[in-house]
Amino acid sequence: MAAAGSGHENWSSRSAFILAAVGSAVGLGNMWRFPAEAGENGGGAFVLFYIFCVLLIGLPVLLSEVLIGRHGQASAPDSVRKVARDSNASGGWSIIGSLGVFAAFLILSFYCVVGGWVLYYVGVFVSDLFQTGLTGGAFDGRAAEDIEGLLPGLFGNGGLMVGLNLGFLAVTMFFVARGVSSGIEWVAVYLMPIFFLLFLGITIYGAFTGNFSEAVSYLFTFDFSKLTGEVMLAAVGQAFFSLSLGVAGMITYGSYANRDTNLGQTSGIIAGADTGVALLAGLAIFPIVFAAGLSASAGPGLMFQSLPIAFQAMPFGSLIGLAFFVMVFFAALTSSVSLLEAPVAFLKDKVRISRAMATILVGAGAALLGVLASLSFNDMAEFYPLSFIPLFAEANFFDALDGVTAKLFMPIGAILTCIFVGWIADARLIDDENGLDGALHQTWRALVRYVCPIALFLILLAGIFPETAAIVMEGIAARFSRFG
Ligand code: PHE
Repeated sequence: MAAAGSGHENWSSRSAFILAAVGSAVGLGNMWRFPAEAGENGGGAFVLFYIFCVLLIGLPVLLSEVLIGRHGQASAPDSVRKVARDSNASGGWSIIGSLGVFAAFLILSFYCVVGGWVLYYVGVFVSDLFQTGLTGGAFDGRAAEDIEGLLPGLFGNGGLMVGLNLGFLAVTMFFVARGVSSGIEWVAVYLMPIFFLLFLGITIYGAFTGNFSEAVSYLFTFDFSKLTGEVMLAAVGQAFFSLSLGVAGMITYGSYANRDTNLGQTSGIIAGADTGVALLAGLAIFPIVFAAGLSASAGPGLMFQSLPIAFQAMPFGSLIGLAFFVMVFFAALTSSVSLLEAPVAFLKDKVRISRAMATILVGAGAALLGVLASLSFNDMAEFYPLSFIPLFAEANFFDALDGVTAKLFMPIGAILTCIFVGWIADARLIDDENGLDGALHQTWRALVRYVCPIALFLILLAGIFPETAAIVMEGIAARFSRFG
């Protein structure tokens, strides 16, 4: 449905907006990236700093983004420009939107690679179901190393990787081409509820069968000495990635929201659901990792390698495994759709081409980068495109796309958004849009104006110059221990 006279599309209801935005937020970032990052960054310190980032930085930035979109009622750069114009500020601030659109495109290209792995595991469990039957555990009689070997096996097959990657991208393109209310909204409204049901079932199962207490202490024991500059930047990057921030996605989704949607409340629901799913995913995956004696720092392989081993030991294991990967597929699809939508909305507005044409153009670009990202697990494994930047020295093409977007584009986009909303935009316009009153409004305003930009700037510096950060952190720790 188009908003009166503007030709800009709209969600058909407030709950459709919430489901679509939660759908964008909840995805591979929660189920795959969060456990991988938590494990690689030492557990508790990362997790608690991540929660801190969600509350004090992510949530205020999320509200700022949907607010810009709702006021602008246009693609991300044009929405920012409209807020700027209505505040008598320079239209140049639209750079926030343009940078975001570009970052969304980069993320889309590697996101669909991982989406392809998910499709592969759906296939693995379908064929396993035929072999072992409905009631048995998965992978009848196969050794754990065999099951763990499935992922490296896939990595070794460049052709299959590329095919699956393009397959996942094609499904994403199909729904985006159908438009906001009949495509994007449809996916969210039907798939997100199924996702939540399946997810709850599997988490409860995991909690009762794995090594739950070790997982809890691993994820929630705070060790200050482990909180390095790199860990902090990784945590803030994960918070942004998971909340879909700093990349124009939430500005775009906000632009389809109606005037009567309370944005403050909606942002709270999105952040709460997203963080809840991430923590539960951690609590579902790590008990199994520890029970099976696997390494917590296995990184990207964690979800794909540890869970299938657990499914082997479960009654109905193949069925549960299949349900799990279908569920991850749904969650990933509702996110990839939002990643594609941001650049498509931009192109459609800017060049005045049809939605279908814009989808094809952006999709073609993402396919090209995606092929290179897929090949970085095999033929191009030794190619380090950003080796001249110490932070990304050992990153292959895939890792470079992930690292640059989460650790640079997202925090920088968020700093600019905070400065824009907190200092540049007309305060009356902002007050009118945000749906907050009283103390909550004051708190949000202080966070956006002072806390978020300063904290983000410091975290960014600490991540880029970890040695200096370490000296400062040691100083702080020494001061605290003197009091303690
Ligand atoms: N938040 C999504 C996830 O966790 C990924 C995403 C990032 C989607 C940025 C849109 C924009 O999987």
